Amino acid sequence: MSDFNLDTSLIEFSSSSNKGHWTIRHAVEGVQIFGGIGSGKSSGSGRTLALKYLKAGFGGLVLTVKPDEKETWQEYCQLTGREKDLCIIEPGGNYHFNFLQYEAAQASGQSITENIVEVLKTVIRAGEEKNGKSDDPFWETALDMLIFNVIDLCLIAYGQLSIQTLYDIVQSIPKPDQDNKVSHDTINAYHRAFQKAQQKVNEKVDDWYLHLSKEIQEQMDEAGTLEMEVENAVPEARLYNFVRQFFNENYISLSEKTRSIIDFTFSGFLFRLLREPIYSLFCRYDSNIQPEDCLQGKIILLNLPVKVYQKVGRDCQILFKYIWQRSMEKRSIRDNDRTLFLWADEAQNFLHEHDADYQATARSSRISTVYISQNLPNYYASMGGQKAEYRVKSFLGTLGTKIFHANADIETNKYASELIGDAYVVDETSSVTIAGEFSHSRGKSLKLERVVRPEDFIRLRTGGTANDFRVDGYMHRQGDSLFKGMNHTKMSFNQNYTP
Ligand SMILES: Nc1ncnc2c1ncn2[C@@H]1O[C@H](COP(=O)(O)OP(=O)(O)OP(=O)(O)O)[C@@H](O)[C@H]1O
Ligand SMILES: [Mg+2]
Repeated sequence: MSDFNLDTSLIEFSSSSNKGHWTIRHAVEGVQIFGGIGSGKSSGSGRTLALKYLKAGFGGLVLTVKPDEKETWQEYCQLTGREKDLCIIEPGGNYHFNFLQYEAAQASGQSITENIVEVLKTVIRAGEEKNGKSDDPFWETALDMLIFNVIDLCLIAYGQLSIQTLYDIVQSIPKPDQDNKVSHDTINAYHRAFQKAQQKVNEKVDDWYLHLSKEIQEQMDEAGTLEMEVENAVPEARLYNFVRQFFNENYISLSEKTRSIIDFTFSGFLFRLLREPIYSLFCRYDSNIQPEDCLQGKIILLNLPVKVYQKVGRDCQILFKYIWQRSMEKRSIRDNDRTLFLWADEAQNFLHEHDADYQATARSSRISTVYISQNLPNYYASMGGQKAEYRVKSFLGTLGTKIFHANADIETNKYASELIGDAYVVDETSSVTIAGEFSHSRGKSLKLERVVRPEDFIRLRTGGTANDFRVDGYMHRQGDSLFKGMNHTKMSFNQNYTP
């Protein structure tokens, strides 16, 4: 049985007179690892932390960018006796996760539509940020409304959702100049959904109306309140009217250019989900794995490396990550206190707009986020939009521990140096005065200086045979001190570390 006590030590620092510990408590406050290409992030501090986490029995989610990450984690799990816990979601593999079904089942308190819209728009926007189209409230609102209404239409008409149906509806929304009269030959998915929705609503309204007493029926007829009463009594009727109004009065009449951008954003996203192998992994079959499995110690690895699967690999991993984060936030520590981790090497690929909020609660849900990335500009580029720098820095503030390896990026080195901060050092100045008689005075004063200067990060060891497999890094922790009363310590990681 593993011990998930927050004070369990994961890394110990010791010298002849001092001892320090980096504990599970520190782990769940989040970790950010920075370092230039080949500085030893993955094989140095990354490897050490991963092995410590696995050995300690953590469950977790691993996102992948490079194709060799699956093998790396297989090796980690083998070294720590966790092979049985590793579940790899990959093309041709054994696991499927049906995200629409899962999210529909999760909807308690808020509607299924809201739940699914939230997931879809987060993923779509995370993709857009990279293209610099973010921060425009018009697109965002228009896109949200389209997603909302298409999902509602689909639910009213068919009582369930499928990516194929959503895609077909979006593809067949009439254009403004198109004849909106439907004949037998021209009926398409959009019209079919409306007809079916109308039929469903009518059935419900009839059912309600026929169960009213004759007296009430007559009263409503006379007062002319029938329509209003219908909307109050049959929520689908009200919703149906909203949806119809949205398409007829707002959406269809948007200018062609505007419409096509919004249509393409949504249908392009759905289209990517409909293609194999993604369709089989996330849409086609019932789930045989889900985020909650991590609470039993499973390690879910999404083997859809971005370098191989590009945009769809990233979309699917952000989608799974966000669903996983939302589920894990709801966990009860009282019932199950297993520490979890969320692991992303080359993490700039997987950021989304809710990460900062999520990070704020990750500590209390006992989730150790480990993000590995080369430098700050990587994050600026992927968090895009205005105020990127401000956003990135405030986001980094939510990750309690930072490890800095060798880096040639000035911005990151300056950030690291500032973060570690200043300290008073003894400044020994000596002055020689020649006045009458020879006098030599030696003055001691204190001078405030950077503890680690930005250029110090350039020279850190980066592993490999030349360095005897040693990777240097500065670890910094915000809050209580790490070692020798300080918030930072220089340490070296062994690339051949085994627990
Ligand atoms: N197991 C290992 N044994 C010895 N050397 C290794 C090992 N793994 C990687 N290296 C070497 O150590 C250095 C650091 O590699 P590593 O992949 O950890 O860097 P990184 O910071 O993750 O780089 P990147 O940004 O490219 O992912 C590289 O020179 C690499 O070739
Ligand atoms: Mg790496």
